[in-house]
Amino acid sequence: MKIGDINIDIPIFLAPMAGVTDYPFRVLCKEQGASVVYSEFVSAHGIIRENAKTWHMIEFTDFERPIGIQIFGDSPEVMSRAARMVVDKFSPDILDINYGCPVPKVTKRGAGSAALRDLCLMDNITAAVVESVPEVPVTVKMRAGWDANSIVVPEVGPRLEKIGVKALALHPRTTKQSYAGDADWTLIKALKESTSLPIIGNGDVKSPDGVMRMMEETGCDAVMVGRSALGNPWFFRDVTALYKGETILPEPSIVDKVSYCRRHFDHMVFNGASPYRKALVSAPDREAMVAILDSIS
Ligand SMILES: Cc1cc2nc3c(=O)[nH]c(=O)nc-3n(C[C@H](O)[C@H](O)[C@H](O)COP(=O)(O)O)c2cc1C
Repeated sequence: MKIGDINIDIPIFLAPMAGVTDYPFRVLCKEQGASVVYSEFVSAHGIIRENAKTWHMIEFTDFERPIGIQIFGDSPEVMSRAARMVVDKFSPDILDINYGCPVPKVTKRGAGSAALRDLCLMDNITAAVVESVPEVPVTVKMRAGWDANSIVVPEVGPRLEKIGVKALALHPRTTKQSYAGDADWTLIKALKESTSLPIIGNGDVKSPDGVMRMMEETGCDAVMVGRSALGNPWFFRDVTALYKGETILPEPSIVDKVSYCRRHFDHMVFNGASPYRKALVSAPDREAMVAILDSIS
């Protein structure tokens, strides 16, 4: 599949997950075969205020490419300015817009999945972002609608295609559902049939077989994996093997897992971390170590 000019051979993506898909975790998933990875969602307001913590959330390495930086916000002006700033400073391969976050703290301000209740706002934000970063493919990740009575799929497919979005990722639950019930994969199929955009299916893939099943049942071009990768970057190794028709390797040994934990930890305290590292090594107990780690974030 292709997103803009980016060729993607193995269409298995790591889903954006706040507090999870930071640099250390993305690197581990990438090593195991995730073809496209995403940052966690980043506030457009934080970006335009040049908030240091927000900017830090966007940093990535070339190894992680192709990478999507996901932003969320409530207005075309703020979102387009933020998109431009992200592209100027970080040159991500993909700029992704979040229309899926169901958390009231976000939706109350009109951001995240609040746009599913106001498709004109969605059009305006998306058009402003697409216009502000013409050299980068803009993608959208969305839920199916605000509630069961206001499903916006497949209506939004052709609308977003016309605006110039290059791919759509769908987690087919409503905002009201949050994570209850099952993801309705028939909506991924409906979205795929409504537009010629590449469609990235997402939701409730629990095994490598599940990835193949989602592709077969919905015709989606790629599958995005979230919770099944938590603590298990090898999920991508196994899906990749299955996708290529190769034998799935046995589960990693406890030694391999511990070695990955160490590397995850090393990545977390990478550059500029030597004072913390020294303090961690001499910390008397776990509580003291946690306090040091807390002081970094
Ligand atoms: C801890 C956590 C954080 C998440 N954060 C984000 C986020 O920042 N942006 C986003 O678009 N989706 C976010 N999601 C939703 C996931 O990307 C995904 O759509 C959802 O978990 C369904 O996929 P899954 O069944 O494979 O987990 C988050 C999910 C979890 C579990």
